[in-house]
Amino acid sequence: MKAYATYRIPGDGLARLGAIAELAVWERPDPVPRDALLAGVAGAAALVSTLNDRIDAEVLDAGSQLRVVSVMAVGHDSIDVAACTERGVVVTNTPGVLTDATADLAFALILAVARRLPEAADAARTGGWGRWQPTWMCGMDLAGATIGIVGYGAIGRAVGRRAAAFGMDIVHHSRHSGIPLDDLLAVSDVVTLHTPLTEQTRGLIGREQLRRMKPSAILVNTARGAVVDQVALAEALGDGTIAGAGIDVMVAEPIPTDDPLLALPNCLVTPHIGSATLRTRTEMADLAVQGAIDVLTGVRPAHIVNPAVLG
Ligand code: DGY
Repeated sequence: MKAYATYRIPGDGLARLGAIAELAVWERPDPVPRDALLAGVAGAAALVSTLNDRIDAEVLDAGSQLRVVSVMAVGHDSIDVAACTERGVVVTNTPGVLTDATADLAFALILAVARRLPEAADAARTGGWGRWQPTWMCGMDLAGATIGIVGYGAIGRAVGRRAAAFGMDIVHHSRHSGIPLDDLLAVSDVVTLHTPLTEQTRGLIGREQLRRMKPSAILVNTARGAVVDQVALAEALGDGTIAGAGIDVMVAEPIPTDDPLLALPNCLVTPHIGSATLRTRTEMADLAVQGAIDVLTGVRPAHIVNPAVLG
């Protein structure tokens, strides 16, 4: 039995997979090229992937023996789940273990943008720090401000716990609970996004939604880039429709260095590091590999994206 992994992920999971399958790994740090991926899955029963790898019908056809596709992420938008389900391939992901790390990063962005840390640090570094002035570099008080959490799963709730500790008022919007999105946008001083990327959430925050936000409000996105219309966001930040943004995820990753968002002083861009602590990434890696091992050994994995396949 063969298995293929698109990255030498941390921890000892791959060694465990290698003990039950003939494992091949893409050893370089850059994403596996398409032709190598197609060759790698040929004859493999398990594929362990990252969010960089587009796992679609072409890959599934090349890997016609695949029984399981695992992704080292909670978001599984890199995988054509319907195509997997059609072929009886189990999809597993890694929810839970990255909740706190991602909520921490969301809150770090909230604090940084609310208190204008990138601008302030830049001023200090470049000689812009003059005499202390009563109103210079003033930002937003979080205590008493309203945070609007869009998507109220584990990560959204974890952000809510942090916000409560900072004395913020909390509203939320999700498919099943909370207030309508338009109302949330109108009342929130901070809007933070925690939805998966689906056909329903693609472009959820566009020009119209940005216009509904307060001119003093900030937007934080640690979910998926395509949840936000990035062109509209750059315009809204440039013309004062909203006050600031903290963005960890982009439509195209890595972000092109000439992207207008990078030139805006009120926009803090980080390179998809929501879950980037070594403990969290190791736990994600272990969970992703375990999903593959479970399917290969006839155990029901803890996190199945398409449970219908296993009945
Ligand atoms: C996920 O798990 O979906 C995250 O984006 C990875 O950091």
